[in-house]
Amino acid sequence: MCHHCVAGALAPGASRRSFARFLAAGAGLTVLTACTPQAPTAVAPPSSSAPSVTPAAPSPTAAESTTAAAEPPSQAPVPPSAAASLPGQFSLTDPASPWVVVNKHRPLQPPDYAPTDLVQPNVPLAVSGEASLLNSTTAAAAEAMFTAAARDGVTMVLASGYRSYATQVMTYNGYVAARGQADADTASARPGYSEHQTGWAFDIGDGGGACGFQPCFADQPAAVWAKANGHRFGFVVRYPWMFHPITGYYYEPWHLRYIGVEAATDMANRGINTVEDYFGLEAAPGYV
Ligand code: DAL
Ligand code: ZN
Repeated sequence: MCHHCVAGALAPGASRRSFARFLAAGAGLTVLTACTPQAPTAVAPPSSSAPSVTPAAPSPTAAESTTAAAEPPSQAPVPPSAAASLPGQFSLTDPASPWVVVNKHRPLQPPDYAPTDLVQPNVPLAVSGEASLLNSTTAAAAEAMFTAAARDGVTMVLASGYRSYATQVMTYNGYVAARGQADADTASARPGYSEHQTGWAFDIGDGGGACGFQPCFADQPAAVWAKANGHRFGFVVRYPWMFHPITGYYYEPWHLRYIGVEAATDMANRGINTVEDYFGLEAAPGYV
């Protein structure tokens, strides 16, 4: 995976160079925001996860209906929920659920939701304050994953974790001011639409180098390792390459989302690339 691959994900008419500039500008904004000191929220009990998904028939063809990350998204119809074969069922709408799906069609409810169990994981941090926090379940999983990566000789740092609604307002407005709203919407969620607000998602870096939040991060050991091993700790690369017509965002090899070991491993084994496909949800390329 390299720059020319990312260029393949450009909207028609956009140049590779302009896309790289866009990402670079956006990354700068992200880092600036992520580095803004925030007061840590008090620790509370682990997130509750109310079972509420309506069971659907397992789809043995689900894996075939999606393609590998290096391929364009399949035009096949969205399958029934492939996740229905898992024994545990969690809410897709409760922001405290590990299966909550937040995208341009599915805003957080309530929009200003804040986790009650934010903690700072014991991992190498590139940020402080609010951005260094995750919900308690994700924090524990991140600690296990970062430890395993380090054992494999891979340096991984937490580059951006929790973002409150208010922080996302600043982040999104910064993108809009720098790039205009249309471009901003391909890289930054609008307030109330970001996974970062749930505590279930975070961005990784490699602790140095010039590829932080850049397309070339996909080739760095931290990203390569996370893509290959993240599922063992419950994580998926939430915005895979070439799946922006489904996820609504260009490739973010740094953005990991916790959905649990069983579901993440099931997704990997079935070759399903997006949570939208995995949970049988419609594609969300734009706001409705
Ligand atoms: N960059 C991701 C989409 C976010 O802003 O949540
Ligand atoms: Zn992110």
